[in-house]
Amino acid sequence: MTQLSAAQTVQNRTSDGSKALYGGKGTRRITVRDIALAKERGEKWPMLTAYDAMTASVFDEAGIPVLLVGDSAGNCHLGYETTVPVTMDEMTMLSAAVVRGTQRALIVGDLPFGSYQEGPVQALRSATRLVKDAGVGAVKLEGGERSHEQIRLLVESGIPVMAHIGLTPQSVNAMGYRVQGRGEEAAQQLLRDAKAVQDAGAFAVVLELVPAELAAEVTRVLHIPTVGIGAGVECDAQVLVWTDMLGLTGGRVPKFVKKYGNLREVMGNAVKEFAEDVVGGAFPAEENSVH
Ligand code: KIV
Repeated sequence: MTQLSAAQTVQNRTSDGSKALYGGKGTRRITVRDIALAKERGEKWPMLTAYDAMTASVFDEAGIPVLLVGDSAGNCHLGYETTVPVTMDEMTMLSAAVVRGTQRALIVGDLPFGSYQEGPVQALRSATRLVKDAGVGAVKLEGGERSHEQIRLLVESGIPVMAHIGLTPQSVNAMGYRVQGRGEEAAQQLLRDAKAVQDAGAFAVVLELVPAELAAEVTRVLHIPTVGIGAGVECDAQVLVWTDMLGLTGGRVPKFVKKYGNLREVMGNAVKEFAEDVVGGAFPAEENSVH
C-alpha cells in the first residue's frame, strides 16, 4: 500500500472515524456499502479505467478506490474504432487481469454491447460470468429506463450494478458522440433515466457528457452517487479513461479530459533512446552483461 503523509491521513479520516474512500489504508476490498456511506458523508471520490494487471496495480497502490474495466478497452487497448465490437471473452480476460493486479479497489466490469440488450436473463448470464470467472465486485451496463429490468434482476441476484446514462458509447451508431440532456425534454428524460436506475437498485450511476447544471440536479435528487465524465464538478465522483488522462492516447481527446501526464512522449523518447543505444553499440553496457 502507498505510504500516506500525516496530513493526508488526517484528511482521509472522516468525522465518524471511518476511512475515506480515497487514500484509506485498509487492505480489504472496497464494497458498494463503502460507496453508499461516502455519499452519506458527502465525500467525493475518483475512479479510473484499467485494462491490465500492471497498470491496475499502480492505480490501486495510489489509492484509487474504484477501477472500471471499461469497454473503452475497445478503443484504448484492443485497437477497435469503437466499443461496439468488444466481446464477453475480451471483457472477462481483461477484468480477471485487473482483479489479479489489485488488492483494495472495487473492480467494476463493463458488460459489452450485445451481452445484455436481449433482456434480463441474458444480462444475468453475462454478469454472472464476469463475477465468477473474472472475480469483479460489480458490473456496469448502459441505459436508463430501457435497462431497468436488467438492473433489477442482477441486483436481486446479488450482483451490484453501476448504471450509465447520458452519452452511452455502445449506441454510437444511433446517437453519435453528442452532449445529452440539452433542452427541457431531454433533461426530463435524463432525470427519468436516473430515477429508473436508482429504483431498479443500481448502487451508482455514470453521467457521461451531460450539462453540468443538469448533472448537479441529478446528483441532488438521487441518493446513490453520480460518477461524472464530462458532467461538471457537482457529481459525487469523477471518472476518466486512464490512457486519456495520462496522455497515452494518440490524437485528440475529448474537451472534458484533463491531462495529468504525457506518457506517449515519455515512452516514445525512452524507446528511441533504447533503439539508438542498440544501433550505436551502447547497450548492453558492461553492467548489463553477464559473464
Ligand atoms: O468504458 C468506459 O471506459 C466507460 C467510462 C467512460 C465511464 O464507460
